[in-house]
Parts: sequence; structure tokens; C-alpha cells
Amino acid sequence: NILVDVQKANDKDNTSIALITLNRPKALNALNDALFGDLLHATQLLDKDKDVRCIVLTGSTKAFAAGADISEMKDKTYEECMAVDMFAEWQQISKLKTPIVAAVAGFCLGGGCELAMMCDMIVCSKSAKFGQPEINLGVIAGAGGTQRLTKRIGKAKSMYMNLTGEFINAEEAFVSGLVAKVFDNETLVEEALKIAKNIAAKGALSVQAAKEAVNAAEDLPLQEGLRLERRLFHALFATDDQKEGMAAFLEKRPASFK
Ligand code: HXC
Repeated sequence: NILVDVQKANDKDNTSIALITLNRPKALNALNDALFGDLLHATQLLDKDKDVRCIVLTGSTKAFAAGADISEMKDKTYEECMAVDMFAEWQQISKLKTPIVAAVAGFCLGGGCELAMMCDMIVCSKSAKFGQPEINLGVIAGAGGTQRLTKRIGKAKSMYMNLTGEFINAEEAFVSGLVAKVFDNETLVEEALKIAKNIAAKGALSVQAAKEAVNAAEDLPLQEGLRLERRLFHALFATDDQKEGMAAFLEKRPASFK
């Protein structure tokens, strides 16, 4: 259900980046248990490998993912949903240490949009369409579509998307702050891999700290977030990378992080 390609991040050291491609084309990458299980397994393995510095998650040119698998859900009872706390496990994607960039082309709907939002950054191609169409199925978003989306793009647009089920295009997603960059359809994955290589060239501990601090901004009140940021900033003065980064700047040479 997925393809995993681990690539060298550069020619100088052992660092690498990983490209995960959702690969269930017949169902527009609808996220069934098997696919999501594969995805969790792969990301958690990659997360344990300290040489892997960034993960890019993509789909096909037609669909990043058209949502949770409707055929798998349709006969579920309330008791069954409750008993397994359906979709709670998906949150593990947002708990990875390794930065993960969603590279979205085509449909990014329902659980697909929620999966993209669990990643640390979303970039997309001009063909991307984001939506929370669960309302058309008699349900609502169940893995962040009413929460993360509202925090990212504000109540007005989130309410519009969640109540009408209408999609927004790449330009609207960019203007709304849902995506960081929009690329041409042909270059999306290549550009996402460039971002991953750029991240891989930084100090791993400072990347991890930056990821933790920025993600905490969605959860914490400002003063607590600022305190966490300061403490992480202070902690980085215990690392060789801080000494190297600042010395390299003053010596007018590129930094060589460990
Ligand atoms: C299961 C899906 C699917 C889905 C598409 N397919 N989306 N199967 N679950 N979410 C299947 C179709 O049944 C069809 O299978 C094949 O993929 C191609 O889809 P078409 O509809 O023929 O393609 P097209 O006409 O191009 O329309 C594309 C589309 C449409 C607009 C994206 O497929 C669509 O509306 N999909 C559902 C989108 C959605 O409602 N997502 C939210 C799901 S609920 P066959 O066998 O007929 O070829 C959800 C809950 C999240 O995500 C809760 C927390 C995680």
C-alpha cells in the first residue's frame, strides 16, 4: 500500500531522507486500516533511524488521499467505533521526532487532509484540492478536520469547508496559510525532496527542537509556549552544533553540523 525510498541527503555524510508514496491508486489512496498500518509502521521505523533526517509523504498526481476508506467504515456501529477509539491511532503521525513534509497533488480530502495536517508542513502542486467533505456522508471530520484546520486557516474558512463540504484549491490553501509553498505539478516531489535535503543539512537537535516548539504553538497558551521555546533555546547551548554554527558564521564559512 505504500512505497518507501530512502535516499542519501548529500555526498558528505550518512544522513538520509525518506520518500513515502501512498500507493492505493484504484481507490485514490483512500486510507484503509491496512494502508494506515503500513504508514505507521514505516514512519515509526524511519523515526528510530537517527540518520533519517526528514520524511516526505506524497500520493499520486491524482490524489494525495481521498479520505478514510468509506467502504471499510460504512457498516460500523457506534459501539465498534468507541471500543477501538477509531482513528485515535492516526495521531501517532503527529508524534514523530523526524520532520515530515506532506507533498500534496490532487485530492486531499477528509482523512487525507487530516493526515496532511498531522505532518509538520504541507506543500502542494497547483492541482491540489483540499476539503472536509464528511458532512456529505452524514458525519463530520474525525481526525483534526474541525480542530487543526480551524487553528490553521481560522474559523470562517474552516466552518465553510466543514459545513458545505466544498474544496479549496492550491491558491486558496496557500493564501489561507494551510500550505507553505505551491509548486508546478511536474516538480512537486522534486521540490519537496529539496526541502527535505535542506532540513537534513541542519543540526538534528536544533531541527527537533524547532519542530517541537512550533508544533507546541498549536496546543499551548502564549506564555507557556514562549517558556518552552526559551528552555529549548537554552538547551541547545549544550550542543556542539551551537558552538559550530556560531563559530562558522563568525569565521565566514559553512557550518558542519554533527
Ligand atoms: C473509499 C474511495 C474513496 C474513499 C474514492 N474512492 N474515495 N473509496 N473511500 N474515501 C474510490 C471510488 O469509490 C472509486 O472506486 C475510485 O476510488 C475512484 O473514485 P471516483 O469517485 O470514481 O473518482 P472521481 O469521479 O474522480 O471523484 C474523485 C472524488 C470522489 C471527488 C475524490 O472519489 C469522492 O468524492 N471521494 C470521497 C471523498 C470523501 O468523501 N472523503 C471523506 C471520506 S470520510 P471504484 O471501485 O468505483 O472505481 C473520512 C472520515 C475521516 O475521511 C475521519 C477521520 C479519519
